[in-house]
Amino acid sequence: MKLFTSVHDVPNVDELVKEALSLKTDPYALQHIGKNKTLGLIFLNPSLRTRLSTQKAAMNLGMNVMVMNMDKEGWALETRDGVIMNGTTVEHIREAAAVIGEYCDIMGLRSFPTLKDREADYSEDIFNKFIKYSNIPVVSLESATRHPLQSFADLITIQEYKKTARPKVVLSWAPHIKPLPQSVPNSFAEWMCRAEAEGMIDFVITHPRGYELAEEFTPNATIIYDQDEALKDADFIYVKNWSSYQDYGKILPGGEGWMLDLERLKITNQAKVMHCLPVRRDLELSSEILDSAESLVIKEAGNRLWAAQTVLKNLLTSL
Ligand code: CP
Repeated sequence: MKLFTSVHDVPNVDELVKEALSLKTDPYALQHIGKNKTLGLIFLNPSLRTRLSTQKAAMNLGMNVMVMNMDKEGWALETRDGVIMNGTTVEHIREAAAVIGEYCDIMGLRSFPTLKDREADYSEDIFNKFIKYSNIPVVSLESATRHPLQSFADLITIQEYKKTARPKVVLSWAPHIKPLPQSVPNSFAEWMCRAEAEGMIDFVITHPRGYELAEEFTPNATIIYDQDEALKDADFIYVKNWSSYQDYGKILPGGEGWMLDLERLKITNQAKVMHCLPVRRDLELSSEILDSAESLVIKEAGNRLWAAQTVLKNLLTSL
């Protein structure tokens, strides 16, 4: 593995999940492979889980780790080409990324979308420039359109807690007061479509009309607009808000009543409930679910560690 930016960097997701579950049983067995290797974690946006789990994963593999909150601690970054830098930006992404490549063997990068310019966000311009100019392997810590470490941890969690050979997994839109990126649902859909193609799960997406994800992330996915119908016989429900892709970055009318509660769980197959966190209680997801035995959100966050460690292991062995 030379890069980890999407499920397309993974030849076989079933094997990768098995590798993660094996690594979880013996976390320190590979402490030698990261010796004298440095991971740089570059954050252009806030984080709790991604930052701590990736840092711990690298330490479990014997790596040195440097973390930089570039949005707060770095020079103001110019990302456009061909501009005279006579404004507020101080350092160009070409030099910044190249310098990080001098200090680090692997870089993790978080770079959120603007939600203002769909074409710019979906071109992953900033992310791709970091890859190009750093000239080292890059792990996505969430880009403008994807969050693959989260989706990998989600699939690990489903494999750990499933009660049937091929569980039904439903991605269910949830309300929010702020427009959120599509990166988590895009990535989750992409990983689950692959898992479905590999015979691991059955996958359904449910959301109000107008919240359709970009088709490139939902190949052959079943989309059901009636939430109750979609949830019937579900074994796992993945709750997540996202803003509109079509009416880019907007919150649309019609999302009222979509918050999941225990009453609605009765129509499922005693489904376990997942969310990537952070979650707004009693807005996106009811407290009664989050505090119940049906919630997997903490176990899911715990699995972020094994997802990150498996990915770093594969990148280290390809250096
Ligand atoms: N789920 C997730 O990526 O959490 P953080 O934003 O806290 O890293």
